[in-house]
Amino acid sequence: AHRYAVFGHPIAHSLSPEIHGSFAAQLGIHLSYETIDAAPGDFAAAVRRFFADGGLGANVTLPHKEAAFALASEHSEAAARVGAANTLTPLVGGKLHAHNTDGSGFVRDITERHSLDLRGHDALLLGAGGAAKAVAWALLDAGVQTLTIVNRTPERADQLADAIGDPARCHTRYWDGLDGECFDLVVNATSIGVTGGSFDLPMSILQDHSTCYDLCYGAAAASFKGWATAAGARYFRDGLGMLVEQAADAFERWHGTRPDTDPVYNALRQRF
Ligand code: ATR
Repeated sequence: AHRYAVFGHPIAHSLSPEIHGSFAAQLGIHLSYETIDAAPGDFAAAVRRFFADGGLGANVTLPHKEAAFALASEHSEAAARVGAANTLTPLVGGKLHAHNTDGSGFVRDITERHSLDLRGHDALLLGAGGAAKAVAWALLDAGVQTLTIVNRTPERADQLADAIGDPARCHTRYWDGLDGECFDLVVNATSIGVTGGSFDLPMSILQDHSTCYDLCYGAAAASFKGWATAAGARYFRDGLGMLVEQAADAFERWHGTRPDTDPVYNALRQRF
């Protein structure tokens, strides 16, 4: 069978096999899609073995996205600007192409599934890690008017804004320096929902129409949802749709057809 896989550590609970399997069934494509658990020290060898054995595509999740980028000899722009990859595709001669669908998946979920036109919006991004980087570039591509980045470690937010290099639109603030500011969209790209910690932001940053979006879903999205609810947010979205859309972007790259993501999203939504 045509072999695909997702690499991570841990990886057992990944929804990717189910998502790619549903897309394939929808389009009548036969494939196998497995999970491969590789500790950081074994990741490069495991990826090389997978492709040497005929693997046709790999998704990569935490903690291997930077390592996946480093393994590849060609990089899409989306991967290059984040310095991390979640989609590896073999090239002739045993080389690999690295791509990153996190940013495009996020924007497609928010603009198409949730019908939010980002153009002219003032967006606030919480966090400056790998996930935040992909989202920052994608928000600017999607036409936000301003992007404000705050991070617990302010230097990382400054580095991200410097790398983006669009000072008229993208700037940083201190986490505790948001009094008096207002945003149409607040995106949580921190790991607070997983590792613990508090959001501790002025509720006045939200307006009536503002959307709060957590890149996580399920239990990991509960703490930001709690803040958003307490702050009176009318619209809260979690990252389940982004997960499905970024998978669809990888699927389209490998199979040449974009699946209908709604049935897959709706089925997962029953459980998360
Ligand atoms: P990922 O690749 O998932 O983005 P990461 O690179 O480890 O993961 O980034 C985690 C993000 O959550 C960072 O922005 C981190 O802030 P620091 O750069 O200061 O580490 C943020 N984060 C994690 N725990 C936090 C907490 N308790 N309070 C505030 N921010 C936190």
